[in-house]
Amino acid sequence: DLSKLKNDQGENLMLYDPGYMNTINCTSKISYIDGDKGILEYRGYPIEELAEKSTFLEVAFLLIYGELPTQSQKILWEQRILRHTYLHTDIGKMMQSFHYDAHPMGIVVSTMSAMSTFQAEQNPTLLVGIDPYSDPLVLNKQIHRILGRMPTVAAYAYRHRIGRPYNEPAQGLGYIENFFYMLDRLNETNYAPHPKLVRALDILFILHAEHELNCSTAAMRHLASSEVDVYTCVAGAAAALYGRKHGGANEAVLRMLEEIGSVENIPAFLDKVKIGKGRLMGFGHRVYKNYDPRAKIVKRLADDVFSICGKEPLIDIAVELERIALTDKYFIDRKLYPNVDFYTGVIYKSMGFPTDIFPVLFTIPRVAGWLAHWKEFHTDPENKIVRPRQNYIGYTTRHYIPISDRK
Ligand code: ACO
Repeated sequence: DLSKLKNDQGENLMLYDPGYMNTINCTSKISYIDGDKGILEYRGYPIEELAEKSTFLEVAFLLIYGELPTQSQKILWEQRILRHTYLHTDIGKMMQSFHYDAHPMGIVVSTMSAMSTFQAEQNPTLLVGIDPYSDPLVLNKQIHRILGRMPTVAAYAYRHRIGRPYNEPAQGLGYIENFFYMLDRLNETNYAPHPKLVRALDILFILHAEHELNCSTAAMRHLASSEVDVYTCVAGAAAALYGRKHGGANEAVLRMLEEIGSVENIPAFLDKVKIGKGRLMGFGHRVYKNYDPRAKIVKRLADDVFSICGKEPLIDIAVELERIALTDKYFIDRKLYPNVDFYTGVIYKSMGFPTDIFPVLFTIPRVAGWLAHWKEFHTDPENKIVRPRQNYIGYTTRHYIPISDRK
């Protein structure tokens, strides 16, 4: 524990570690990654088992509360979340005011942030003398609200993007079915999307639910440390996810595959990457120095989706790109393998999603991981406001120069 180490002068020991390559800033029991072996576990359960046997909402419960739910807990949990899918009418109105071609992630980030103004009674800064983090009623209600409303915000952002009226959540549908319904259906009666597609999205949601201290989760904990309300924390985490080095990578992969255009153009594209002109999007990871276990599952899932929605031709470019890259010295030397986002884009495209909604499809499930970390942070007696130090390399003291004397 370096936080208590002093140097010879009795000053705190400082480490210069840009990007936190070698810095641990919390203890956590939520997920475990072995980057060399390509292992990912949520609360001790291997991701492969969860993807095969569980559902997203069950996994969300596991991540947030630490154990798989019992039958009665599961029923109650799903009821509570599905009861919180409606958005305040004014939030819907606010969403309508975005520019017609606003990026859906921009809409999601802003809407989550606006939500804090609609739940002011939960805002810790207004709760004088009350600790909202030790009250399970407040905590759980916020969790149900955010998980319940996230697909609605995502679906509204999508409908806004395609210039269609918003569909309010339907009654009696499951979490994923309801999301599909809000995306494209107006007839609630007997609405039943293809079960294989529902399961495919459910699995993709499980795979994206949590990944320890990635950029957005670190942002979530960072914001939580200031004790700002949870909606603002989620907005900040979603903003970090938006970037193309993180959750925006799935969108960037698809645009890259479209730019490559055909299998014959792959070697020339990779030559450019190897001289530093752009990156192979969907490749590389800070922690995995082996195949991302989630990418293997996603790759297998593609066939299931193609069998219903039709094969997305870009898959041929992706498969060949992976084959060539994995035998290329540049990628071997740097241990660059496909990450979770390499194949998700082609699946989403085959399902009919427009490219700029892809990061939103990542945000919906990742909210579960963010909430798990937010809750863990607030129940950790060791928690502290996150405040790294800098190495100042600017001017030493100098004096103000009147504008008439400046050159
Ligand atoms: N294509 C080409 N070269 C790469 C790539 C890539 N995708 N990723 C890393 N490299 C190279 C770097 O140029 C660097 O080479 P050098 O040592 O010759 O300078 C070396 O590999 C190490 O790269 P860093 O950027 O230092 O690795 P870091 O751990 O900081 O970055 C990251 C990880 C951001 C994921 C990076 O691999 C990347 O940009 N990948 C593409 C974007 C992407 O797919 N992001 C999604 C990540 S998964 C997720 O967030 C869900």
